[in-house]
Amino acid sequence: MSKNTHYDVLVLGSGAAGLSLALRLPAGTRIAVVSKRDLKEGSTYYAQGGISAVLDESGDSLESHVQDTLRSGAGLCDEEVVKLVVERGPANIRWLLSQGVEFTATPATGSSGYHLTREGGHSHRRVVHAADATGKVVELSLARQARNHPDIDIYENHIAVDLICTPRGDGSQPRRCLGAYLLDLREQRVKSIGARFVVLATGGANKVYLYTSNPDVSTGDGIAMGWRAGCRVANMEFIQFHPTCLYHPEAKSFLISEAVRGEGGRLLLPSGERFMTRYDERAELAPRDIVARAIDAEMKRLGLDYVYLDISHREPDFIKSHFPTIYNRCLELGIDITREPMPVVPAAHYTCGGILADRRARTDVERLYAVGETAYTGLHGANRMASNSLLECLVFGELAARDMAEQIEKARAEPLPELPAWDESRVTDSDEEVVVSHNWDELRRFMWDYMGIVRSNKRLARAQRRINLLQHEIREYYSNFRVSNDLLELRNLADVAELIIQSAIRRRESRGLHYNKDFPWRDESQRRPTVLIPEAYVPKATDNS
Ligand code: FAD
Ligand code: SIN
Repeated sequence: MSKNTHYDVLVLGSGAAGLSLALRLPAGTRIAVVSKRDLKEGSTYYAQGGISAVLDESGDSLESHVQDTLRSGAGLCDEEVVKLVVERGPANIRWLLSQGVEFTATPATGSSGYHLTREGGHSHRRVVHAADATGKVVELSLARQARNHPDIDIYENHIAVDLICTPRGDGSQPRRCLGAYLLDLREQRVKSIGARFVVLATGGANKVYLYTSNPDVSTGDGIAMGWRAGCRVANMEFIQFHPTCLYHPEAKSFLISEAVRGEGGRLLLPSGERFMTRYDERAELAPRDIVARAIDAEMKRLGLDYVYLDISHREPDFIKSHFPTIYNRCLELGIDITREPMPVVPAAHYTCGGILADRRARTDVERLYAVGETAYTGLHGANRMASNSLLECLVFGELAARDMAEQIEKARAEPLPELPAWDESRVTDSDEEVVVSHNWDELRRFMWDYMGIVRSNKRLARAQRRINLLQHEIREYYSNFRVSNDLLELRNLADVAELIIQSAIRRRESRGLHYNKDFPWRDESQRRPTVLIPEAYVPKATDNS
């Protein structure tokens, strides 16, 4: 009998993706859910605008949601995946209701029974929301369910270090995931946890940029761990910059929801001129890549630190009831949005690429799944449409849970494998923590300067040189010193930065979120995802459908 702790399913990450998957596994499944901070902390908690799904059958249609998603994705979405996700949308909203989530109901839109807001790229009102704090309401409901669930053990303040897999060997046998090493951040001790199935649900990688809308946990850990374990990654060049984060020295990462533009908010220059109409006929409601690039261009043209977003022409009561979080936060900072515009700038917001996952969320490593922002499923293509992300978390959480449910009995009958112990025999305590903090700052700054909204061949080459140097230093440091939270996150950020740079270098065109001014055109011969293959990759014998 193995000495290690074993579960049926080990879920790394407790956002919408991880928790919805865990809650949908069959009763009696032994589940561990891991979060590197407290259970609720992650991008899900901060989501504002809402979740897209066709709920108003009188004015909207599944086909329209599909077409809008394909158009936003700039030719790179997997159409079958888009249809699958859109069709599962309404049922997943009903599932959230069954978990205690309450959405804003008045004034109801069409036949939906809920108030549906509009966001960029959507040709109809189809975003269901809980005022402007949708993510908080969803996350807290799911967390409550998980805490009260008899089959779920929760590991908070545990950071996954790496996956435990069978060796690559000569590449003739598929690799299988057996569990993960977790660093207990309170006890500073590494534990080995075994599982029949392991899920990467660790969110996005947007902390790789200096300015981001994301919380501190978004360091791309799942993408880096999956890559090191032998999973292919796709489309990492497509990083979405949200057009409107609040520009204020005290407002770290505070987002101004796209729903503000959906409800009539206008982007203005300091002169009061409305500029989006010069860039796109959909003006403020053009897809995010277009709006973020337009703001960037105006800021560069006029030497501005920010532009303005103005909703003050709407009734104060409407603003306060639809955007209470934004209204109150801005007021705390001295901005009354019922009377004056808000200063805004674009910031890194969403990782469209990730670990390649199929329609059951399976990855290239057997028994390893990837869901949510960590995964690349083909839904978003070259640019994610607003509010399609939480929907993807829910749908793929459901599909993965169903796939595991079909295999769990058979998997349980297998003997438990012995897990290799964590080896600390050749490392010591770090003598220079400053190396970690310095490299962290340098990485995020050069990614912002060279790999941002507008790229060029020269900038890509500069980024490549810097990441090579940093990777060398970080790998050396990692092999000599005991692991810590900061070192693990830095190592993961560096791996993800390298994947973003390599992918961007490969795409010799401009499409969706990837804009290279040396290749400013779209080239249809490059209309395919960018897939990177790691050293540890072993093709699976099973199909990828
Ligand atoms: P997350 O919710 O980010 O959760 C990741 C989890 O993984 C956390 O529990 C974290 O602790 C854990 N974790 C990470 N690394 C490790 C590790 N090494 N070990 C253990 N645990 C780890 N999308 C929409 O569809 N609609 C919106 O309105 C919307 N608004 C947004 C507003 C903001 C400010 C932000 C930042 C994003 C928004 N998005 C929105 C995007 C959406 O919120 C995210 O894509 C989605 O919530 C991701 O969910 P997730 O479960 O994949 O990851
Ligand atoms: C927002 O509220 O603007 C965020 C929506 C999203 O990222 O999907």
